[in-house]
Amino acid sequence: MPPRLLLPFVIMIHALPVLSDDDLPQAARRRRAPVSEVPQDFGLSYDPARSHARVLSDGFGRFHTYLRISLIEHCNLRCRYCMPEEGLDWTPDEHLLTNAEIVRLARLFVAEGVTKIRLTGGEPLLRPGVEAIAEAIGALPGLQTLAITTNGLLLPKKLDRIRAAGVNLLNVSLDTLRPDRFEEITRRQGFDLVVKAIDMAVARGYDPVKVNAVVMAGFNDDELPDFVAWTRDRPVEVRFIEFMPFDGNRWDDGRLVSYEQMLERIRAHFPLERLQDGPNDTSKTYRVPGHRGRIGFITSMTTPFCEGCNRLRITADGHLKVCLFGSAEVSLRDAMRGGATDDELREIISAAVGRKRARHAGMYNLAEMKNRPMITIGG
Ligand SMILES: C[S@@+](CC[C@H](N)C(=O)[O-])C[C@H]1O[C@@H](n2cnc3c(N)ncnc32)[C@H](O)[C@@H]1O
Ligand code: SF4
Repeated sequence: MPPRLLLPFVIMIHALPVLSDDDLPQAARRRRAPVSEVPQDFGLSYDPARSHARVLSDGFGRFHTYLRISLIEHCNLRCRYCMPEEGLDWTPDEHLLTNAEIVRLARLFVAEGVTKIRLTGGEPLLRPGVEAIAEAIGALPGLQTLAITTNGLLLPKKLDRIRAAGVNLLNVSLDTLRPDRFEEITRRQGFDLVVKAIDMAVARGYDPVKVNAVVMAGFNDDELPDFVAWTRDRPVEVRFIEFMPFDGNRWDDGRLVSYEQMLERIRAHFPLERLQDGPNDTSKTYRVPGHRGRIGFITSMTTPFCEGCNRLRITADGHLKVCLFGSAEVSLRDAMRGGATDDELREIISAAVGRKRARHAGMYNLAEMKNRPMITIGG
């Protein structure tokens, strides 16, 4: 790719023309997985004709409409399942995407068909200028959902601005309803602030506020019924997440509480009604009859949902990851800083999406494989 002078980046939103298939770069037209490569139980709606139709389609007919952008690696908590105990070599600031680069990529992905963007981290609300980034992305024509996943500590301060910026979906992470345990799991204080953040989000009309709880045996699995009782009067959706292996988090299956085990334990206390999930939902959702809120299960380990995966990720240092559990990455930052045009970026993105595997390697293999620590991916 020829080096070019970079124009100074300013946060500006341009409406990009909608592309027809004829406008697509070569790489977007080239890919097509032979039907023989598509797993038997995979994507009932698999359509080989569609698998090469667009930049964000992969070889298995999955069209990616959901982009997760990590804004920062740093965090004000140190959750044991996320942050390696020995700490991290943080990426120097100049190697992280600038605000303008983030917005440029968001604009490009939305123009290609992304309808949902989630800002994550590290702790995204620590990123200087997060409000301006949210405003710029929130104004992109075609974007339907702008979400943030946050640990909630800074939410009481920032909620009104990010809401005004167009953030219409909030996930707040909270793994325990017991203040002393909060400190044990996160290695920091802040329980009251997180609960306050959830209450504020409810009061501002977020319905439901999603509450992410990573369930770990011997840490917080005895609180499953307490969390379910907590949904009685609150418009929250508590999402119980199976503990996943990432570099430095000492995963072992003795700590994993499976979807089936969680269901069984909850059913011993509450009747559960299964709700209908959307085609790309990662969560299996239930409700206790009469409860205002609901619960969900993210079952990436024991019941993966790769066939419906519509997610792509950009790390804070500008790498595109096509699978949360894969180590394959391509640096969009380096491409942009080398002067890549939007067309050239589309080529690079299209080729990376085209290489996406059918499914992840399974939890025992993943535990052995190299990947980033979760805090530098963003969930
Ligand atoms: C990496 S955090 C980043 C956003 C923000 N700091 C927060 O905690 O909400 C995103 C989500 O990933 C989840 N997570 C982190 N490590 C995990 C692991 N090993 N297994 C499952 N979920 C994990 C967190 O609980 C959180 O809900
Ligand atoms: S889960 Fe979120 S809050 Fe906890 S250490 Fe990771 S990035 Fe920070």
